[in-house]
Amino acid sequence: MALGNVWIIGADGSLGRVLSANLVARGVSLTATTRRVDCLDDRRRYLDLGDPACWPAFGEIDTAFICAGATSLTACRYQPHQTRSLNVTATAELARRLNDSGAFIVYPSTNQVFDGLTPMANATTTPRPQTEYGRQKADAERHVLALGEQAAVVRLTKVLAAGNALLEEWREALRSGHPIQPFSDLRASTIPMSLVVNVLVRVAESRLSGITQISADRDVTYAEVAQHLTRKIAAPEALLTPISSTDAGVLLDALPKHTTLDTSRLTEVFGIKAPDPLHAVDEAIA
Ligand SMILES: NC(=O)c1ccc[n+]([C@@H]2O[C@H](COP(=O)([O-])OP(=O)(O)OC[C@H]3O[C@@H](n4cnc5c(N)ncnc54)[C@H](OP(=O)(O)O)[C@@H]3O)[C@@H](O)[C@H]2O)c1
Repeated sequence: MALGNVWIIGADGSLGRVLSANLVARGVSLTATTRRVDCLDDRRRYLDLGDPACWPAFGEIDTAFICAGATSLTACRYQPHQTRSLNVTATAELARRLNDSGAFIVYPSTNQVFDGLTPMANATTTPRPQTEYGRQKADAERHVLALGEQAAVVRLTKVLAAGNALLEEWREALRSGHPIQPFSDLRASTIPMSLVVNVLVRVAESRLSGITQISADRDVTYAEVAQHLTRKIAAPEALLTPISSTDAGVLLDALPKHTTLDTSRLTEVFGIKAPDPLHAVDEAIA
């Protein structure tokens, strides 16, 4: 079905921005929410998750994408109560209110609801998060899924968008002849933003409730990503000096062995196969 009156909650984030542009380009009637008070109008409404009393009246809504949230793992780790009140309590209340307005809810979640011990984690596997961020996302998922046929959770692995800060930092350093030290023990199943937006829209259009997962077909280390970038821009490989996060003295919030997700539903329903993780790098640096 064609999307009618759509809301994006959190349209200034990396996902919300690209999703907004995509929907506008499709001619969808879109209302976006923001925390920027200098650019409000009928189509850009103020919404702070932390202030439910001031949330706008939603009216009749067809679809709502909930992209707002405290996404920093470090913030979740060090401010668990404050971030939980946004990522779980407020998100659950928001999903309920949007649903009461008639909206089909699409909620992006993460592979971090899993423990990272097995590759290609199945959507039906019981979540076993190892970080506070992962715990909050798993709890929010439960609230969203409780809305039944009117709600979808789309679990994402690491999304790479054009202008990705780390890739740009590396590219700049390599072009200036400076060495870079990507982590050799940090893995990600990188997926392109274009794929994520395409699937989110198709999930909404087809009213595909329950859990859909998007993942690459394998994990790559950040060192492999950096090596791919180095070759792509024809920089000297001698500038690449991978190091383990442990040797670098960096205590990461999580160092999962696997981050991939099972994507059989993606293939069965939409005919989309899990891409190679380096494809996301190509797209982000193009
Ligand atoms: N990107 C990924 O690799 C990835 C992977 C898996 C899952 N996800 C999920 O996808 C969703 C979007 O992620 P993202 O990468 O777009 O995150 P992001 O770039 O950090 O954007 C988060 C958005 O949430 C907004 N926000 C934060 N606190 C808020 C509050 N109190 N009230 C209202 N809005 C608030 C931010 O607003 P401001 O701009 O005003 O700060 C921003 O627009 C998240 O749920 C995330 O867990 C992302």
